[in-house]
Amino acid sequence: MKTFVIGISGVTNGGKTTLAKNLQKHFPNCSVISQDDFFKPESEIETDENGFLQYDVLEALNMEKMMSTISCLLESSRHPQGSTDWRSTEEVPILIIEGFLLFNYKPLDTMWNRSYFLTIPYEECKRRRSTRVYQPPDPPGYFDGHVWPMYLKHRQEMEGITWEIVYLDGTKSEEDLFSQVYEDLRQELAKQKSSWQSQPGGVLSKACFNPQFRTELVGRPSDLSADYSLSFS
Ligand SMILES: Nc1ncnc2c1ncn2[C@@H]1O[C@H](COP(=O)(O)OP(=O)(O)OP(=O)(O)O)[C@@H](O)[C@H]1O
Ligand SMILES: [Mg+2]
Repeated sequence: MKTFVIGISGVTNGGKTTLAKNLQKHFPNCSVISQDDFFKPESEIETDENGFLQYDVLEALNMEKMMSTISCLLESSRHPQGSTDWRSTEEVPILIIEGFLLFNYKPLDTMWNRSYFLTIPYEECKRRRSTRVYQPPDPPGYFDGHVWPMYLKHRQEMEGITWEIVYLDGTKSEEDLFSQVYEDLRQELAKQKSSWQSQPGGVLSKACFNPQFRTELVGRPSDLSADYSLSFS
């Protein structure tokens, strides 16, 4: 059984986790993987010349472990217990991957069936962040000295992205954001289902949806998502 994979990324405190959890409640067969669960231990985090721990970079995350978790989850959806005929059910498995550094991580590029990115302005971001207690807690000056500059850098890196990302205004209410994304996903899922159904065996179905997949498939045949897209049955 093939899984529909959704990426929810965005600025810190943009509302990624909140949105992912709200969506999960409304889709019957939906799992969530949070990038925040894959931070390395503090002892392995680099420090800059100001003494700030460098948490907001890819190197602070155990991305290999996250990829392997994703891979296991996709594999288990591919061989579900019980019913194996996804065409007979509305319940296409959904996997939401949420985190602040998803679309800057190349090995995930071909994974997405739909990508969202939450933004909020600097002041609102700083305000929301100041109400949270992270482990370890943000030291004074951390937001301006590390968090926000890293966010701007990652946004700049994203300028080269070729697939469609739906940008979301994170200052909208939780309910409005949920409704917007839920409706968009219902439409995307319907399109995706008819695309899968029109292709017996599903070979290369994802290529129809994500143009980048075609080049990735040729360039990296052993890529996790390429394999996943080719072999579902
Ligand atoms: N649409 C919203 N409007 C106002 N506040 C919100 C909204 N969504 C989430 N919040 C609040 O903003 C804070 C951050 O939300 P959340 O944890 O979902 O963000 P995040 O992007 O996952 O943050 P992090 O960078 O810590 O992973 C929380 O206090 C949450 O209650
Ligand atoms: Mg979060």
